[in-house]
Amino acid sequence: EKGGFEHFMLKEIYEQPRSVRDCMRGRIYPIEGMVRLGGIKDYAEKLKNAERIVIIACGTSWHAGLVGEYLIEEFARVSVEVEYASEFRYRNPIISEKDIVIAISQSGETADTIAAIELAKERGATIFGICNVVGSSIPRLTHAGVYTHAGPEIGVASTKAFTGQVTVLTLMALYIAQLKGTINNAKLVNLLTELDEIPALIERCFKEDKKIALIAEKFKDSPNCLFLGRGSGFPVALEGALKLKEISYIHAEGYPAAEMKHGPIALIDADMPVVFIATKNSSYEKVISNIQEVKARKGKVIAIVTEGDKIVKDMVDYVIEIPESNEAFLPLLATIPLQLLSYHIAVLRGCNVDQPRNLAKSVTVE
Ligand code: F6R
Repeated sequence: EKGGFEHFMLKEIYEQPRSVRDCMRGRIYPIEGMVRLGGIKDYAEKLKNAERIVIIACGTSWHAGLVGEYLIEEFARVSVEVEYASEFRYRNPIISEKDIVIAISQSGETADTIAAIELAKERGATIFGICNVVGSSIPRLTHAGVYTHAGPEIGVASTKAFTGQVTVLTLMALYIAQLKGTINNAKLVNLLTELDEIPALIERCFKEDKKIALIAEKFKDSPNCLFLGRGSGFPVALEGALKLKEISYIHAEGYPAAEMKHGPIALIDADMPVVFIATKNSSYEKVISNIQEVKARKGKVIAIVTEGDKIVKDMVDYVIEIPESNEAFLPLLATIPLQLLSYHIAVLRGCNVDQPRNLAKSVTVE
C-alpha cells in the first residue's frame, strides 16, 4: 500500500508529478491559452466583478492561501485577504453579498473552516471550496468549488494536497484573469505552456533527494531552524517550517527574509541553520544580501537555488537545486525539497513521520 516507500509521506511526496498533473487535467488548454474550471463556471460573472476575495483556511491550507493571494493579485488584479478560519469565525468579519470567499481544506472536515464558511454564508457571500476529499462536508456547504484531485493523503503532514491546492489557486488566478482580460491571450498561452511543464520539473527536483538526505544528517540535532523567503517564497518558507515542526519536533520559524532585520536576526549564531529560498527571480538580489547578513553572523545556510546557480553556491554551506521556471510557479517547485528535508530529518531522529504526536489528519474540534 505504500508502493515500496518506507512511509506514506515519502510516497505522497513522490506522487506529486502525477497529482499535480491530475489536478490540471482537462482544465488547462495551453495551445488555445484557455483555462476551464467547470466547478465554478456558473459564477463567472460574479468572479469577473468581484472587488475582493477572502481566503479562509487553517495550517498548510492557509499557506496555500497565501500563495493564492500573490497569484490572484498578480494576474487578476483583485484584492485578496487571507485569514485563519479559526480567527475569522470569532471576529465580526466585514463580509457582504459582494464578496467571494474561497475556503481551502484538504479533508473538507476542519471544524474552524466549516464554522467560518457558515458565518460568511449567513452574510451573503459566495463561497467556493478547494478540497481534496470528494463528498466531504465543505464541498457540500459551499456554492461551488474545484477539487484538487490529489488522491487520498494518508500522511498526517500535508504534502501533495498542498501542491494540489496551489495548483488550483494558480488555475483560479489565471481563470479570473482570463475573464477580466487582465492578461492577454499570448501571455496566457506562454504561462499555460510553462505550467504544463511543472509536473516534469517536480520530477526533476527529486534528483536532489540523496543530497538532501546528507544535509539532513548535518542538521538533525539542531534545536531550531529558520526558513526565509521573499514574495511567494515567503509562504513556502512558512510551509517548510511547519513541516519540520510537525514531523521532527524541531522548533522552526518561517519569516519573510526582509523582516529578519526587525528581530529574528538576533537569533543567528554559528548553531543556527537558516534555509533560504534563493532562486533566480525578481527578489534574487535582495535575498543574496539577506544571505550575506546571515553569513556575517556565522549562521549555517542551506539555500534552495535555481539549477546551475554559482553565486549563491559560493556564499552558503549547502545548496539544493530546483529547475528554472516562471516565477509564478516557484512555490510548486521550491516546496518539494523542503518536504524532503523535513522528512529525512524526522526519519533520522526516529520520529513517527506518518503519525506525528498530538496531530490528527482532520481537526474536527474547535
Ligand atoms: C499540516 C496539516 C495541518 C492542516 C490543517 C488544515 O501538515 O496537516 O496544518 O493543513 O489542519 O486541514 P485541512 O486542510 O484538512 O482543512
